[in-house]
Amino acid sequence: MSKKVLFSLLSVLMVASIILAACGTPAPVATEPPAVATEPPAAATEPPAAATEPPAEATQVEVFSWWTGGGEAAGLEAMGKVFAAEFPNVEFVNAAVAGGAGTNARAVLATRLQAGDPPDSWQGHAGQELIGTYVAGGQIEPLNDMYEAEGWLDVMPETLIPLISDGGNIYSVPVNIHRANVLWYNPGLLTANNIAVPTTIDEWIAAMETLKGAGVQPLALGEQWTKMHLLETVLLGTLGADAYNGLWDGTTDWASPEVTTALNNFVTIVGYANTDSASLSWQDAAQLVVNGDAAFNVMGDWAEGYFRELGKTPKTDYGWAPVPGSVGVFQFLSDSFVLAVGAPHADGAMAWLKIAGSKEGQEAFNPVKGSICARTDCDKTLFGEYLQSAMDDWSTNTVVGSLTHGVVANDSWKSEIDTALGLFIADMNVETFQAALAAACTASGPCK
Ligand code: GAL
Repeated sequence: MSKKVLFSLLSVLMVASIILAACGTPAPVATEPPAVATEPPAAATEPPAAATEPPAEATQVEVFSWWTGGGEAAGLEAMGKVFAAEFPNVEFVNAAVAGGAGTNARAVLATRLQAGDPPDSWQGHAGQELIGTYVAGGQIEPLNDMYEAEGWLDVMPETLIPLISDGGNIYSVPVNIHRANVLWYNPGLLTANNIAVPTTIDEWIAAMETLKGAGVQPLALGEQWTKMHLLETVLLGTLGADAYNGLWDGTTDWASPEVTTALNNFVTIVGYANTDSASLSWQDAAQLVVNGDAAFNVMGDWAEGYFRELGKTPKTDYGWAPVPGSVGVFQFLSDSFVLAVGAPHADGAMAWLKIAGSKEGQEAFNPVKGSICARTDCDKTLFGEYLQSAMDDWSTNTVVGSLTHGVVANDSWKSEIDTALGLFIADMNVETFQAALAAACTASGPCK
């Protein structure tokens, strides 16, 4: 990532820190200075035996995620193979619970953690999800020694370290970078209707109106979390990167006319979606586009992993562009794995984390998952055309964080937004929704 991009992301995080501190809100991870990145703690110089070679008694590791379908399961399996080759005596127990964006899995995980029955390692998003939930709850172990032993501070993006750190400790191993603000489209349907790929929200709406007139389903949409995903991209596309960031650090007023415009855009855009969205998974909705049954779908780039699993061809069966209004902005999230406090197989978990952070593990996982490596040293030629373009954008675009996938808001704030969104989907009352969003920022965000 360019220095300029790093600086702008870090500046946003610092501003958030100042505001949150002033508001008396516990400072989130994103606000911690990345002290660990530059100054490893003294303990990191101790020989980190467990970090490199699991002792003979490591017999298994239970790995928890929600990667059960499409490119998700295939990616996990590919990394599992690297693990099996390196640690043939450690059984890999895949405890994935189905459901996009972890909606089901995270509920199961919460119950297990509450019952004192943690999986050895689970998937958590870098950012507020990790720090505001698992670190705040004392549920995961610091991994500083492992970072030191594996030399990861030299190969993980500097921007990511503050998002997985708290109080000078690093708490997870990021396996990838995903992009949230992707508009997937069916190239044949656009060409047949003389539609250029839209770059602004107005162009997008005009295109969907034309498609609707031609009897083509303009937009494919799925269950509720995919609507939050669409909402965050429409907020970004309407407000621009700075004002979008301001929503999360308290400098953009949720009650402002600009947010009203964004919510009205959302209503208009959702008006072009399939009416059975509530019963479709993200895969169902994305598939409508590659099958030629809908023109557009907004989804993170795990959709590309899924399209490839389906045997679809880039540029022919699907095209991609930033969500209209967000050209030049990369709305990111990062999947990362943690070590549970009280992990039943801590040695096995350390072995797994070692692979999750390794070049070999990430090069096996990411081209299939539809993400780019978190590591900065992966071989670009292993990746397809879309992911190569994502790598270019990640290193040159303005970077902002995702709401739906854990970067910018802690779990309680996100769940208030989700509740308000559920009501909004039912009544589409912008005024009530906007008031609820403003109240959520006051109750759980920086707008005190
Ligand atoms: C995200 C996760 C991705 C992908 C997606 C859909 O939250 O970060 O890796 O799995 O959900 O399930």
